[in-house]
Amino acid sequence: YLVIRVITKMIKTKLIRINKFRPEPEKIRYAADIIKRGGLVAFPTETVYGLGANAFDENAIRNVFKAKGRPADNPLIVHIAELKDVHRLAKKPPKIAKLLMERFWPGPLTIVLKKKKIVPDIATGGSNTVAIRMPDNRIAISLIKSVGVPLVAPSANISGKPSPTRAKDVLEDLKGKIELIIDGGKTSIGIESTVIDMTVMPPIILRPGVVTLEAIEKLIGKVKLLSFTVKEEKISISETDSKNFLKSPGLKYKHYAPNAEVIVVEGKAKDVYKKINLLADEALKNNKKVGIISFRKDHKYKNCYTAFAGSNAKVVAKRLFTILREMDKKGIDIIISESLSGKGIGLAVSDRLKRSAGYNIIKV
Ligand code: TXA
Ligand code: MG
Repeated sequence: YLVIRVITKMIKTKLIRINKFRPEPEKIRYAADIIKRGGLVAFPTETVYGLGANAFDENAIRNVFKAKGRPADNPLIVHIAELKDVHRLAKKPPKIAKLLMERFWPGPLTIVLKKKKIVPDIATGGSNTVAIRMPDNRIAISLIKSVGVPLVAPSANISGKPSPTRAKDVLEDLKGKIELIIDGGKTSIGIESTVIDMTVMPPIILRPGVVTLEAIEKLIGKVKLLSFTVKEEKISISETDSKNFLKSPGLKYKHYAPNAEVIVVEGKAKDVYKKINLLADEALKNNKKVGIISFRKDHKYKNCYTAFAGSNAKVVAKRLFTILREMDKKGIDIIISESLSGKGIGLAVSDRLKRSAGYNIIKV
């Protein structure tokens, strides 16, 4: 018994509820004290729950990687509460980066800039850039202010799993591994922030999100989309893309994957409906439990657990990770999903869906 305790080093994980409109100061102080002492605290943001640690505490950052089972070369986002904090962390940002900050912060946009020495290499996976974001959530902002330093905060899930949008998702993944989880209710956006690299011209969107390519281009002109994020078939990366691809090391790892196998079917609605029925019948014959993700109310699938995820991308974003997690809990073996249009927020949702399928996409 003792040996097992030593190996797994279980920590008692506390859960406290904090009001997201008026965070109770004494509760925020309680959480902040844990981080000041080098501990880990999961907290809500507007996108997904983050696993917070002091961005200048190398030991705490090491524990973040350990708790998530995250590869050491996958850099973390540094979360700030005030605009002036950018200058503590990054070298002179370009003018267009400032425009983005003024327009979209606080909010779901992460900006990659050249880093200053003060940011520990371990936080940036050895990269000379740092990703910065100011979250739009009062609990997150009060916590950062109360600690008094920026916080690194990757999504608070086990590496490779769907990101957590509820405190209970965090508990499921990180119970026994972190000191505290702040329950601030379900997150309002549901998928992670847009990540844009502003250290190159034109800037490159490394991860699409609800701050859309269209909205960014309207403000600062042409940007590139890492073509990896829109690849529709099997992953094949051109030379230039593979260079960019390595810039965001997170991209090369398995992501958002439930235990079930996931297949995405793409094509005209009518053909997709037909194909999914065929695939489902086949799977059912093999005694598999089938789950279907649908974006159309008029598609009724028989003998399968069907989750209607919404017909509007913003609504789907809010529900997608919850649906994937719930299907795992139901013991579903295979998830077959319809596909959505790749414009605007649809691009971000499609990206998460296809990654969760490991790019297992059938075109009809
Ligand atoms: O919405 C979000 O961004 C959430 C909440 C908690 O803020 N956080 C989040 O963190 O999604 P994480 O660690 O799960 O994803 C961060 C992504 C990864 O794909 C990582 O590779 C990329 O951002 N990233 C971080 N620092 C980077 C850097 N210096 N250069 C390029 N990519 C970077
Ligand atoms: Mg993540």
